[in-house]
Formats: sequence, C-alpha cells, structure tokens
Amino acid sequence: MTDFGTRLLDWYNNNYRNLPWRQTTDPYKIWISEIILQQTRVAQGLDYYHRFIDNFPNVQSLAQANEEQVLRLWQGLGYYSRARNLHQAAKTIVEKHNSQFPNTYKEILNLKGIGTYTAAAIASFAFQLPYAVLDGNVYRFISRIKGIDTPIDSTEGKKRFTELANELLNTNEPAHHNQAMMEMGAVICKAQSPECDQCPFQTDCVAFLTGQIPNLPVKSKKISQRHRYFNYFLVDETDTLYIQQRNGKDIWQNLYQLPLIESEKKLSANFFKKQINEKVKLLNETKHILSHQIIHSSFFLTTTNAIEKLGINDYQTVKKAECINYPFPQLVVNFFNEQNIPGYKKE
Ligand code: ADE
Repeated sequence: MTDFGTRLLDWYNNNYRNLPWRQTTDPYKIWISEIILQQTRVAQGLDYYHRFIDNFPNVQSLAQANEEQVLRLWQGLGYYSRARNLHQAAKTIVEKHNSQFPNTYKEILNLKGIGTYTAAAIASFAFQLPYAVLDGNVYRFISRIKGIDTPIDSTEGKKRFTELANELLNTNEPAHHNQAMMEMGAVICKAQSPECDQCPFQTDCVAFLTGQIPNLPVKSKKISQRHRYFNYFLVDETDTLYIQQRNGKDIWQNLYQLPLIESEKKLSANFFKKQINEKVKLLNETKHILSHQIIHSSFFLTTTNAIEKLGINDYQTVKKAECINYPFPQLVVNFFNEQNIPGYKKE
C-alpha cells in the first residue's frame, strides 16, 4: 500500500465516527444512507435514516409502499426527487432484478437517482468493488492536499479529480478507503475552519504549505437565485383543511400545500379582498431559502367561498386531525405549527 493509503487508514481506524451505515454491508441500507446524506448533514440525516429503515426495512417493503408514505418520511429533508427516485428504483429492483440489489457498478449506476458518486459508494461499501467515491468532501480534500485549482464543477475538473481519486484508491480495501476519504473531508479538511493541526497530511499538503487552504477548492459557477412569491390560503373552518397537491415539474412535486396562487411580486390581503369581495386576512409572511430559489410566502386566512372565486379548483378537503399523514413542504409545516393545526403542535 502507498504511504498515503496507510496513513489514511491509520487515521481512520483511530478516528472514525461510528455511524449505523458503516456497520452493515447490506446494499439496501447503504443506498438509503447515501441518498439521505447527499444533501444532508450526518447529524440531521441520522433520525431520518432510522425512521426510513424502521418503516421500510428492505427493498420489497419500499417498493410496495405508496408514494405519499415515502414522501411523508422525507418531509423536512428537502430535494424530494430523492425520495421519489428511491421509490422508483426499489420497484425496478423488485421487478427487473428479482428483488436482489444489483452487484455490479454498471447495473447500480443504471438505477433511477443513482449517479457516479452513489454507485461507487454502494459498489465499494457493499461489494468491495474498486471504485473511488468523489463527493464534495473528497473534492475538497484532494484539491487541497494536491494543490489543484481546476474548478471542481467543470468537465475538466471532474475528469482530473476522478483520475486522482482512483490513483489514490487502495484497491485492497476500497470500502474503508472511501469512508476514510469522506471522513477526512467531513471532520478535518472542512470547508470552514479546517482542523489542519489534527491532520496527518499537514506536512505534505500543498495547500497548507502554500497558504491556499481558504482558496481551495475552486468553483466556476455562481449559483443564481430566483425570487418567487407564494400566496397560500387557509380556509377558516374548524375541522376541515383545504389542501392541494403540487404537480408539474417544479419544486416539491407531488407534495401537498394550502391552496396556492403564485405571483410575480408580493401581493397584499387588500389586493385579494378587492378581487373576490371576501374576507382576506394576512396571518404570516416567511422567507424560505432553497439552493436556487428564495420563496417569499404570505399566508392568508379566508372564507370557504374565496377558494373558487380565486380560480382555485384543484383543491381537496381533509380533516385537520388527519393532515399529519400528508407530506407538506417544511415551510407549510412551520405554518401549521404556528397555527396549532391539530397534529402539528410543537412538542
Ligand atoms: N456523507 C456521505 N456518505 C457518507 C458516509 N458514508 N458516512 C459519513 N458521511 C457521509
């Protein structure tokens, strides 16, 4: 083994966090954990992982679930296409792979929602196949130890870092090696305040030796953010809640919400009141920040008649006590909490 590989595994063996998905070679559990952890920190992901596995302990149970149950378990995690894709892929495994999780990189990569990172993670962790993982942690760690300023979000960068990650890979122990690479990025070589004094590679880290730690890795694209204005309507009834399912190719696809009108700019209660000649009262305004969008929400209390007058006709009604079973975006859940909608009361 290379000196790098030995030092990395020595460090990992002495420092790793004991996480549940590191104590299994079940590809199903590893898959669920990796999808959760794609856009979620370990501390937040742990509870979701346990609840997901408790509800769907294997690929058959996930395949048989209905989408609402799956989305409900995902509520609050964001990036809901991850949950829809998991559900789809579970059905594929049951139907096309006889309920056996595929055990080659190529077949794993073919599953819905699985890209090169997740395929390499499952292939190495579950099947000891020699594929190097490359996630944000690994990009950062490699860019710093090697002092590489090629943008990590460019085609050239992806190619270069993939080659380097595979050169560094310890093919005898791909699972531990990959976990160790990610762990270095997560707990030592952090984006903010990295722990260089604890790092076993400090003496030969190019970025450390040249003072480039704060400048690496380099990203070329600036994220542009779109502002959107959501006007939600809560119908003033005691036991009944008017809700609407989101559809179309947009955020929160298939989740539920209060009846919504989106507008180009912020609108007032008076604006709607004049339009429909019904009571409209502003209850709350919030700003919800997503990776590429900022959602400005206004929540209005209004009458039963108002909904159709506003031109909203794809609503449905549910008992307030039962709305806990439906998946809603977090900003709607927060509103329900504030309004003490039954079942959504804060603990
Ligand atoms: N982030 C992504 N995958 C991870 C893993 N297997 N362990 C810890 N953090 C991770």
